[in-house]
Amino acid sequence: MIKVKNISKKYGQIQAIENISFDLGDGEIVGLLGPNGAGKSTTMKIVTGVLSPDSGSVNVLGFDISQNPIKAKQRLGYLSEDNPLPSEMYVREYLEYVAGVYKTPNIKDKVSSCIEQFGLKNEYKKKIQALSKGNRQKLGLAQSLIHNPDFLVLDEPTSALDPGQQEEIQEIIKNLAKSKTVLLSTHLLHEIRNIASRILIINNGQLVADEKTENINSVTDLYHSVVK
Ligand SMILES: Nc1ncnc2c1ncn2[C@@H]1O[C@H](COP(=O)(O)OP(=O)(O)OP(=O)(O)O)[C@@H](O)[C@H]1O
Ligand SMILES: [Mg+2]
Repeated sequence: MIKVKNISKKYGQIQAIENISFDLGDGEIVGLLGPNGAGKSTTMKIVTGVLSPDSGSVNVLGFDISQNPIKAKQRLGYLSEDNPLPSEMYVREYLEYVAGVYKTPNIKDKVSSCIEQFGLKNEYKKKIQALSKGNRQKLGLAQSLIHNPDFLVLDEPTSALDPGQQEEIQEIIKNLAKSKTVLLSTHLLHEIRNIASRILIINNGQLVADEKTENINSVTDLYHSVVK
């Protein structure tokens, strides 16, 4: 269970998010929607402990992210919007490095299966700087999963991908959710309909909708009714 309680964040004078609260149940895939600048990435940075909120709290599977950051972060994986990767490292070397940071057991086997899962078999000997945008995105996803976290936070995971790869990644995310809780943001309303069991919409830094997908006739209609 993930508990986000009354989080707020200002950057200087800009109120990026205000008083946002939601809980995520085990095994839920939750889509986070909202226009550019609404506060999705800021919310995700706070949920993952990358950024501290001005007020409010985040509890990840029993651990408060500000009081117990290491324990909380061991349980979560994060693909950030800008997906920063060390361009001089080789793909396999980078995944082994990340797995090592998390003290993952059986690093070599784990990295091999991750390379297989994400279709990076023709890429793993390359330097990261030589990867296509889509394969960089897949590597970003792979690193978020390498330590087998229970909670995944994915900020626009399919944004750089071609339609075929988008579907591939959507399938991977759906399968993952059988054993994990997933919070993902996207601007693709049809994508979210396919994979999320619940939808949160943020507008102007405020949570304006929290609905189960099965109760929504049209995600587009809901979106346009709360985002003007
Ligand atoms: N580092 C920063 N410094 C100053 N302002 C920031 C910073 N990061 C975000 N903001 C501002 O906070 C607000 C929320 O931004 P955020 O990146 O969370 O939106 P978003 O919903 O992820 O948008 P997008 O869909 O474009 O990714 C915006 O007004 C943005 O300009
Ligand atoms: Mg964003």
